[in-house]
Amino acid sequence: MRDPRAWSRRDFLGHAAIASASLALLNGCGPKRSSGSGYRLPGVDVSGPHSLKAHAMDARMLFGFAVNTQKLRDDAAYRALVEQQCSIIVAENAMKWHALRPAIDQFSFADADALVEFAARRHIRLRGHNLCWHEALPEWFAKQVTAVNARQLLRDHIRTVAGRYSGRIHSWDVVNEAIEIRDGRPDGLRNTPWLQMIGTDYIEMAFRVARDADPSALLTYNEYGIEQETQEAAMKRAAVLLMLRRLKQRNVPLDAVGIQSHLQAQPANGYGPGLQRFVQDCREIGLEVFITELDVNDRTLPSDVETRDIGVANRYRSYLDLLLPERNVTAVLTWGVSDAGTWLNQGKDRAREDGLPQRPLLFDGQLRAKPAFVGVRDAFDARHQAGALRGTPPSQKPLPKL
Ligand code: G3I
Repeated sequence: MRDPRAWSRRDFLGHAAIASASLALLNGCGPKRSSGSGYRLPGVDVSGPHSLKAHAMDARMLFGFAVNTQKLRDDAAYRALVEQQCSIIVAENAMKWHALRPAIDQFSFADADALVEFAARRHIRLRGHNLCWHEALPEWFAKQVTAVNARQLLRDHIRTVAGRYSGRIHSWDVVNEAIEIRDGRPDGLRNTPWLQMIGTDYIEMAFRVARDADPSALLTYNEYGIEQETQEAAMKRAAVLLMLRRLKQRNVPLDAVGIQSHLQAQPANGYGPGLQRFVQDCREIGLEVFITELDVNDRTLPSDVETRDIGVANRYRSYLDLLLPERNVTAVLTWGVSDAGTWLNQGKDRAREDGLPQRPLLFDGQLRAKPAFVGVRDAFDARHQAGALRGTPPSQKPLPKL
């Protein structure tokens, strides 16, 4: 008996056609080329009631970007787009250990403080990213952190950082990317410095200290590589779910899961029932789901900008159509504001074979809306128009005071 929730190939192809048809409809005859590189979507109004935050609100969701704090400070157009489109934001890098900890006995909060003030003044929710990760550790970490001091160091870091912003953070990525099947452990845990120096209870400790430090933030476990309809992703989803269930069984304070959602543009049926089931399983253990780092890698798409942008837009639409019917999905953030700053163009290992920069986000390097903007907005509208969402929402904590 075919699972009624499963998508047939026909479903996916139909969705792709809908996405590109809605884009063409929007523009009369599809996107137009402007002078110079790329092209723009004439007539797309992205402001006010036409913004992503407005359409997200209609669908009872939050929408936003990962932001670069230096651009937010220095680039007025960048700042204006964030204010126009976002009901929630997250620092791409400014709240990581590497940014906050110049020395083992020092904190540097200037950028993070400025971001917290920016968000508060504009009544934009703020995600914290992240309190415990095996990457973005400062240079002194490997030299000065040992099994003797690691537990106290992590505890003090979380207490200091989450305590400093207590009441002002919508949700914290408390632990980031703790599962790695390839490390071969029966529990699927990644063999990180934290695991090696503290033991498996570092995860539980991190969440407990975070709750004590900021009782109002939604405490989140954030992960990648759990999205695709593949054997490897299915195994990782199972390991994540097992870990989350164990934490909940031990009454560890845990409110949400972040599905990072660094997507591939192809194949069309790359995402499906396995991920839907995961989101439903998260709801059944009382967890909200945030789509925390959404972008679409266009490496396998042709060089032509118009073709690439439509292919990326179709992926955004079909992926969100898969997840937004689930009531416990309550926030969507893209990993970056525009193609100009995407991490996918940092480093050679992610470069396209034709050498062209990737175009993974909703706005191009000149901050112009792309077809993906319409794809995401249509997905919010589809959720809004559907009305009846699957499942009952987990008890949502009151939003922190802004
Ligand atoms: O700020 C320094 C600068 O002073 C220095 O001159 C320069 C040269 O090395 O490095 C700069 O720091 C870089 C930082 O980004 C800010 O640009 C780091 O080297 C670089 O490693 C860091 O990369 C970030 C990466 O996480 C590691 O922290 C990416 O921008 C960021 O997009 C990426 O985001 C991660 C999420 O946090 C977790 N999920 C996966 C995602 C993609 O990897």
